[in-house]
Amino acid sequence: MVSLTLRCSRRAIAANTHNSSSWRLMHTLQRRHQQLHQSCGRLRAAATAATTTTTTPAIATVPKVYANWSDSAIARRNMSSSSSANLVAVAESRRFMIDCFKAVNVPEEHAIAQADLLVAADYRGHFSHGMNRLEMYINDLAINSTDGAAEPQILKETPSTAWVDGRNGLGAVVGNFCMDLAIKKAKTVGVGWVCAKGSNHYGMAGWYAMHAMAQGLVGMSMTNTSPLMAPTGAKEAALGTNPLSLGAPAANGDKFLLDMATTAVAVGKIEIQRRKGAPLPDGWAQDPEGKVTNDAELGFATGCLMPLGGSELTSGYKGFGLGAMVDIMSGVMSGAKYSTQVRKWTHAGANSAADLGQVFIAVDPNCFAPDFEERMSDFNSRLRGVTPTDPSKPVLLAGDKEGNNMKAVDAAGGIQYLENQLKTCSALAEKLKIKPLSFI
Ligand SMILES: NC(=O)c1ccc[n+]([C@@H]2O[C@H](COP(=O)([O-])OP(=O)(O)OC[C@H]3O[C@@H](n4cnc5c(N)ncnc54)[C@H](O)[C@@H]3O)[C@@H](O)[C@H]2O)c1
Repeated sequence: MVSLTLRCSRRAIAANTHNSSSWRLMHTLQRRHQQLHQSCGRLRAAATAATTTTTTPAIATVPKVYANWSDSAIARRNMSSSSSANLVAVAESRRFMIDCFKAVNVPEEHAIAQADLLVAADYRGHFSHGMNRLEMYINDLAINSTDGAAEPQILKETPSTAWVDGRNGLGAVVGNFCMDLAIKKAKTVGVGWVCAKGSNHYGMAGWYAMHAMAQGLVGMSMTNTSPLMAPTGAKEAALGTNPLSLGAPAANGDKFLLDMATTAVAVGKIEIQRRKGAPLPDGWAQDPEGKVTNDAELGFATGCLMPLGGSELTSGYKGFGLGAMVDIMSGVMSGAKYSTQVRKWTHAGANSAADLGQVFIAVDPNCFAPDFEERMSDFNSRLRGVTPTDPSKPVLLAGDKEGNNMKAVDAAGGIQYLENQLKTCSALAEKLKIKPLSFI
């Protein structure tokens, strides 16, 4: 068992970005400043008690109660009937994913980086980008369309920029490397702008913005991905779900963390509806004729998601424009594949390298007006303080919902997965000959 060592300063958090503390880094970020001392005390106590049955580094566990931890109203409705039998401790979810990656010959450090990213998504309520993605990554690794051992390489560099070749490595490995580089540059010259080609699916765009926020910087990240968005007026896909993120730290541990697909939803949310056997809301996906469909199977099979905003009437062309912007900044600028050049979306393992493009930006706000974090706090208060249409539902800021999910998971002591997700995990465990997931 590897002991859990807590480091609560910003510098120490940064130093841990690539190692087994990454999950705890994310956990700690949510409480930075505001609850720093309480968090450290609680985690330290849990760490003392934590045990592990594998060589995987231990993670703190928390008391078990029942709660709701999905990330959308629809998911909440459908998951509220789930039984607590599906509750998996965060540490166990992480152990399982690390074991899966190691079983397909991913070096431990990279396995940990990728698992930390995935478990963070589940912890934050973004089930679409957590365990739900595991099988796809494993399939790509198993047939060598992703190189689990690859290390990124800097191709060109100035004091404020870098062009990186991800060398077909795991998305989290490339992404962590690039954002760390951007942070280093921002700390030296005020701005770090790093573009990567040759990358793979990098999960939550917000993960990388969080790393910059932990250093008191403003962080941004974007990625292109396989064509899944039908441009306004089209019946075929020509852009990915191309997410973007912006993280801005505020005083006392508060923040603004926008992390969103530029399609109406991430494709993972269509997959989750399929896993649940639930319909799609209007405006998520098209059928082969370009009409809106509520059929999750048909929507998934057609592979034409609607841009953010939906149809032309509801300004979907703005989501189309944002998706194109992401591809220009990440795909075109980095020399990676872009638009319809990017390989098709598949869970079965692709027969070619993805060669995705990504961008990582860190900015030191101290280069501009003073007191950025205090001004951000005031900004956030003004937005949260507006009169809600429903008095029982206060206005949320970007990142608040995820913060609430993390609190619910902490309170419950684990993550509640869908039945179908757990079936996929059992099949994976059998196939890879690893210890299956165990439940609380
Ligand atoms: N790597 C990839 O290829 C890829 C592609 C698409 C999406 N993603 C990831 O998928 C995840 C989910 O994306 P999504 O677009 O479905 O997210 P989402 O629609 O759930 O949330 C988008 C943003 O809106 C905020 N938000 C949600 N509800 C809110 C409310 N009521 N009031 C105010 N703000 C609110 C969230 O905090 C978040 O910042 C993200 O982490 C994204 O980066 C990754």
